[in-house]
Amino acid sequence: MLLSKWKKMVDHHDQAQGHDIVNNKICENQCISFTDSTCNESNACGIIEMTFPDHETTRNYAHHFRGCDASVLIATKPGSKTLAEKDADDNKDLRTEGFDTIMRAKTLVESKCPGVVSCADILAIAARDFVHLAGGPYYQVKKGRWDGKISMASRVTYNLPRANSTVDRLIELFSSKGLTVQDLVVLSGAHTIGFAHCKHFVGRLYDYKGTKQPDPSIDPRLLKALKMSCPQVGGNADIVAPFDVTTPFLFDHAYYANLEAKLGLLASDQGLFLDPKTKPLVQALGQDKAKFFQAFAEAMDKMGLIGVKRGRRHGEKRIDCSMHM
Ligand code: HEM
Repeated sequence: MLLSKWKKMVDHHDQAQGHDIVNNKICENQCISFTDSTCNESNACGIIEMTFPDHETTRNYAHHFRGCDASVLIATKPGSKTLAEKDADDNKDLRTEGFDTIMRAKTLVESKCPGVVSCADILAIAARDFVHLAGGPYYQVKKGRWDGKISMASRVTYNLPRANSTVDRLIELFSSKGLTVQDLVVLSGAHTIGFAHCKHFVGRLYDYKGTKQPDPSIDPRLLKALKMSCPQVGGNADIVAPFDVTTPFLFDHAYYANLEAKLGLLASDQGLFLDPKTKPLVQALGQDKAKFFQAFAEAMDKMGLIGVKRGRRHGEKRIDCSMHM
């Protein structure tokens, strides 16, 4: 469904603009469109309106609370002993498509507006556009971020929320970044789209917390289906399952109703309904899509300001998003 929508947008862009979008191949599954390409100081990030149909971008942007400086895009220098964030063990299953999309967009932006738009802004805009394209809210993205000068794999582990993190741990992690319990519940709603690899939830299916039993908070039909995709041993490491079994490709508020129906995929998702601190919020958002959309837009804006770099002292405007200047 989304694929045909993307194609329509690309076709429309091509007809309207009469030029190629980076290369014709990307029209198969991606599209980028520009409606404004003013390069001036007052409109420093003047190339707006890009569209990237890519969960990975949203995830890259959001999972790394330091991601607002695009440090996640940096690859390790050949021969260097210090691994960059992109090569951290925990980032191994970030698919390359997400990075490629940003790189292609950057190349296109540079060709029209050299040295103006940071990779960090591109990432933030791309995340917003994917959410919107999948049916979610459209919100303004503040621009003017600079890219971070430091990218170290060793910083990733501590900052990353985990599939088996307790709600208390997630609250602690979010609060260390200035985000509230409400932000945690609202931003987790991004799991209304996208997929997770078996390793993130297989522990719930067979031997939950050493009980040799499945997690009792999984609906039996979902449990059966997940067990078929993800055997306890010897499964294919590339298999993924949708976060939202009811509307996997739609950005809606079904995620929350799913949690009430024991259909959460990760322990960290289901935990939000089980914990009395977060349950009322899950229930409220599950009943009100408009409330979720508005809260999501506000929380993304807030998250987009975490660790923002400004100016040459702490930042740079990379030409190639994968390499420091
Ligand atoms: C609350 C704590 C969170 C935890 C524990 C968590 C955990 C995860 C895990 C384990 C995956 C699957 C990775 C894989 O197997 O490839 C995932 C995917 C994803 N996450 Fe989160 N996440 C959290 C918060 C967020 C937030 C705040 C956002 C966005 C605002 C987000 C957006 C996504 C998206 C879009 C995907 C799907 C990526 C894809 O399908 O390619 N997550 N998350």
